[in-house]
Amino acid sequence: MAQELITHWPEANRDNFGKTPVTWQHRVHESPLFSDEKLIELIENHPRDLADFCTMGDGANDMSSWRGGDPGSHSGEELLKAVRSGRLWINLRKTFNIYDEYAAILKTIVGELKALTPAFNPVSMTGGLLISSPTAGVPYHIDRSDVLLWHIRGHKRVWVYPIDEETLPEHEVEEILLHEHNDDVPYSEKLDDKAIIYDLEPGQAATWPLHAPHRVLNQGDMNVSITMEHSPFNTIMQNGAQITNGILRRRLGLNPRIEDQGFASRFVRFAASRVLRKLPLVKAKTAHEAGYLFDVDPGSSTAVRELGGVKAIA
Ligand SMILES: [Fe+2]
Repeated sequence: MAQELITHWPEANRDNFGKTPVTWQHRVHESPLFSDEKLIELIENHPRDLADFCTMGDGANDMSSWRGGDPGSHSGEELLKAVRSGRLWINLRKTFNIYDEYAAILKTIVGELKALTPAFNPVSMTGGLLISSPTAGVPYHIDRSDVLLWHIRGHKRVWVYPIDEETLPEHEVEEILLHEHNDDVPYSEKLDDKAIIYDLEPGQAATWPLHAPHRVLNQGDMNVSITMEHSPFNTIMQNGAQITNGILRRRLGLNPRIEDQGFASRFVRFAASRVLRKLPLVKAKTAHEAGYLFDVDPGSSTAVRELGGVKAIA
């Protein structure tokens, strides 16, 4: 079958998709929808409640340095300039769901992936546009849903780690799933020995197994990528099962292991999680994004002006 946007799909991806890290080639980056002009238009007009403006420490190796900021009333042009010269990471969430011309790309991709691999069977799918500075990165973390990263402009290095007791103890996964605002995963440089490294160029895409820890560092030029999150039923069920496991571990001192739990056990635990989540058994940590911690300042070297406190999100 001729593929419109996916130009090379290695044979092994069909079986490995979702099970091991995989990459493929596409030509989404050839679209005029990712020109400077289009980015400026998007940044300026995207609903502010769907736009994240973040910064991070130098080297992006510490999730505690990750913080959200206020883009203020700067124009799209000024904000894109701030991304070019500073250390910013912008996520225009749902770009590929709310604008017809971008949604058309998502629709085509979903159709192509469904034809290429039976493992791709999303219940829902969202697509965000990431625009980030030459020195920006995303520290070591896991995502709650399956993610496809489509690289469009610039160069970035992605480290993907296996899931084991050293890279990510199971109780840490539960901790993240139980507390919506907790993304802290303990990282040390020695874990890098276990990582697969991808140097992504425009036209490449990658995905990895659910909950595989990963980190990203841009390689000296402004980056544009698409992050597509899809939640197949398996993922929804596994997350639910791990939430139940987390509660059992914390309240009853049990030591459940997700790997040992087959479909029936996961399903029961998933169903239980829908009930347990509503009970005040586990206290959520304070919301991290309770407010802005910096103002975007296109005139400063990192485009970040620290606030020295928290500013409420209007
Ligand atoms: Fe991620």
